[in-house]
Amino acid sequence: MFNLESIVRPNVLKMKPYSSARDEFKGEASIFLDANENNLGSLAGENYNRYPDPHQKKLKTLIAEIKDVRSEQVFLGNGSDEAIDLLLRAFCRPGKDALLCLPPTYGMYEVSANLNEVRIDTVQLTADFQIPVQEVLQTLKPETKLLFICSPNNPTGNSIRTEDIETLLNKFSGLVVIDEAYIDFADTPSWTTRLNDFPNLVILQTFSKAWGMAGLRLGMAFASAEIIALLDKIKPPYNINEATQELVLQAIDKTEVLKDMVEEIVQERELLMQALPSIQAVETVYPSDANFLLVKVTDAGAMYKFLLSKGIVVRNRSGLPGCEGCIRISVGTLEENQTLLKAMAAF
Ligand SMILES: Cc1ncc(COP(=O)(O)O)c(C=O)c1O
Repeated sequence: MFNLESIVRPNVLKMKPYSSARDEFKGEASIFLDANENNLGSLAGENYNRYPDPHQKKLKTLIAEIKDVRSEQVFLGNGSDEAIDLLLRAFCRPGKDALLCLPPTYGMYEVSANLNEVRIDTVQLTADFQIPVQEVLQTLKPETKLLFICSPNNPTGNSIRTEDIETLLNKFSGLVVIDEAYIDFADTPSWTTRLNDFPNLVILQTFSKAWGMAGLRLGMAFASAEIIALLDKIKPPYNINEATQELVLQAIDKTEVLKDMVEEIVQERELLMQALPSIQAVETVYPSDANFLLVKVTDAGAMYKFLLSKGIVVRNRSGLPGCEGCIRISVGTLEENQTLLKAMAAF
């Protein structure tokens, strides 16, 4: 049923990608006069006068290893936000095609769709923030090319039921994009373990959350080699800068530190989960598999302002469908969380 060529934008299939200087030259050389770089050096320090590897070979090899996929199944973006945008540009014809997303969810699917003049169809998640599968199946149209599922979902924090995602993967002839930005905080396995079962599966992950590298901007997409080749074809040639490539290469084998940080954040999340309900203004604390909590309070706007007056910034999410009266709180350090609890109790 799934046929990749039939859903790719014809101009993307036909076009020739940009060929960089470093694509055209392969081999050994000592003098590089091919890329109009500054051969005298760099004001920023070592090697930054040179363009970075456009194919991110070393990084992709290492990431493939730790994620247990093949390196041809890895795309790297300037944040996963870049991967979201490129998916839209590869598969959705402006003014003709559509994507489906499931609010309340991450806002960039909609922003990218608007930017690319792609129609957004929406089906609201149920009261317990799961997918109403039948309704989604009825809403999918021939021109729907992408279905975005965020799991664990931002801003609700919960994971989406595996069986429901599996049904949609089997029945939808477009791409199912599962955004796993928060997967490191969840107990459930990543959908990367199922990559070879579904030709229409795309998984997004990021170094911005558990890895603590939001400032470096490195996002990942995992999919079939054919889908990844399309994203690579249309990406800006040097989308991952040299500093990011170097710093992530150095950090990537510190998986013990990652594990410890994730454990501590999950532990802090559970402490907040236990403490918040005893605060008078708190009505509901939703279960979370992520590094934040969605909390329904008596007056979200007033709570937001009150916390701000105490120097604490949370996110007021009460404008999103299904999140009326809710604020979203990122899990902080032990001290920060204690300060937050004290402030909320004084509301
Ligand atoms: C669900 C989700 N996806 C993607 C992103 C963006 O990640 P990145 O920093 O890799 O662009 C975020 C950031 O908040 C997010 O919540």
